Amino acid sequence: MDTLRYNYAQRLLLWLIALLVLGLLAVGSLLGTLGFEGLKGLVGLEMTNQLYGYHKTFGILLLALMVLRLVLKRLFRSPPYQPPLTGLERAASLTVHSLLYVALILMPVLGWLGTAAGGFPMQFFDLTLPGLIPEDKELSKTLFGLHGILGGVILGLILIHVGAAIYHWRIKRDGVLRRMSLF
Ligand code: HEM
Repeated sequence: MDTLRYNYAQRLLLWLIALLVLGLLAVGSLLGTLGFEGLKGLVGLEMTNQLYGYHKTFGILLLALMVLRLVLKRLFRSPPYQPPLTGLERAASLTVHSLLYVALILMPVLGWLGTAAGGFPMQFFDLTLPGLIPEDKELSKTLFGLHGILGGVILGLILIHVGAAIYHWRIKRDGVLRRMSLF
């Protein structure tokens, strides 16, 4: 076994989560900018309902995968950096990774609570999950306002994260990307 890489399940999980987040940011931005009525006028009622349903379903799936990721991180030791990172690199990566974990867990929770407070169904595939909080339209507006702001923060964190990966891959050429690559 290659002790300088995360195990295969962890590597697969990272790329699956990356795909999901990009899709959620894209579809979410569409929902946020056009709104239900705007989107309905553009693609029809059925497609609009499907897009909201998919966004909720894959958002909750992402929450479950993030929890699984945290569990795996506790169960398996992270591989050492070889060659070791500089102090500044270690501090920067710890900060960005921690913020990504917090943001990607908070984001679906805000979506879930915002949906429930708006009085909308909490769709997860064919199931309707419990709303958890009572209907409160004002609170829903606030929660979706935060959901939108956090979307921008996540996008910024992803740009820094991908920029750092490219830096290690093309400039430092120190094998950091290999720890997480699928091949
Ligand atoms: C990490 C997971 C998620 C990401 C990255 C994400 C991303 C986004 C983004 C970027 C927006 C646009 C916000 C705006 O510009 O105002 C949005 C809107 C929305 N999201 Fe999410 N979302 C996630 C999870 C969820 C979940 C789990 C739900 C519900 C269960 C949800 C429900 C919604 C709804 C209903 C909107 C439209 C809000 C509106 O019309 O103002 N999202 N999402």
